[in-house]
Amino acid sequence: MTQDTFYTDHWRQIDDERVARYERMFVWREGHATLLAPLDLRAGSRVLDYGCGPGFVAEGMAGIVGATGRIFGVDLNARFVENASRRNSESEIVSFHQVDGNRIPLADACVDRLLCKNVLEYVPDVQATLAEFRRVLEPGGRLLLIDSDWGFVAVEPWGRERTKRFFDAAAPAFREPEIGRKLRSHLLDAGFDHVDVRVQAGVDIEGGSLLVLRNMATRCPPPRSTRCLTKRQRPSTTTATCSACRSFSRRESGLRSAAG
Ligand SMILES: C[S@@+](CC[C@H](N)C(=O)[O-])C[C@H]1O[C@@H](n2cnc3c(N)ncnc32)[C@H](O)[C@@H]1O
Repeated sequence: MTQDTFYTDHWRQIDDERVARYERMFVWREGHATLLAPLDLRAGSRVLDYGCGPGFVAEGMAGIVGATGRIFGVDLNARFVENASRRNSESEIVSFHQVDGNRIPLADACVDRLLCKNVLEYVPDVQATLAEFRRVLEPGGRLLLIDSDWGFVAVEPWGRERTKRFFDAAAPAFREPEIGRKLRSHLLDAGFDHVDVRVQAGVDIEGGSLLVLRNMATRCPPPRSTRCLTKRQRPSTTTATCSACRSFSRRESGLRSAAG
């Protein structure tokens, strides 16, 4: 792993603990039906879930499109694809495929719906990926992109400076951490029309976002991870985040020595 390609390498190589954590995190939830409403899924829809992760959202969509529909889950990570394929080996509706590089392993115009949720921030070349989306999506099909914009996140009690320091430290884990604000222009540049942008903002008072920050901290590359974590700067709520960073650093040095 190098700093330059860390944003994609950390998805290619995932250890058992992280696979298990993602299989707990990226599950189909009640709110997904509302989140995916713009896709207008129907019985018989043919859907690509690009960057499907462990595949539970693809499985949830299979329940909506039914026996006449088809769901293709595609992901960079081989472990996600293997586990999801094993779980769905009997299914005639849903299948999983690995992608590595810009080319999606599907025929032209083979889907009429395309979901890409929290993935574009990691792809090496957004325009090349969107060109592939246009190729596999039939004319008149629907594309739903859902992505974050980490530049708009405020964390209290950290305040602006510490929050910026944390996200700066985590930035190598993304190709484009501020993709959210750029989605519209990317889509127009790629030739999509009828582009509709919606911004969703929320306040987390339950602390659920700490899981996301903790997870992000595990992906801070070691040289920068310490910048967000000096003892003096550490608010009490981030203790777990800090230890996560430290154990990640240990795992990383283990990886480096294993790689020789
Ligand atoms: C944050 S997870 C989102 C998973 C799923 N879409 C969800 O929202 O539950 C990002 C996913 O994108 C995949 N990914 C990262 N880079 C990718 C690429 N270049 N092409 C395809 N998938 C990629 C990762 O392996 C991971 O499964």
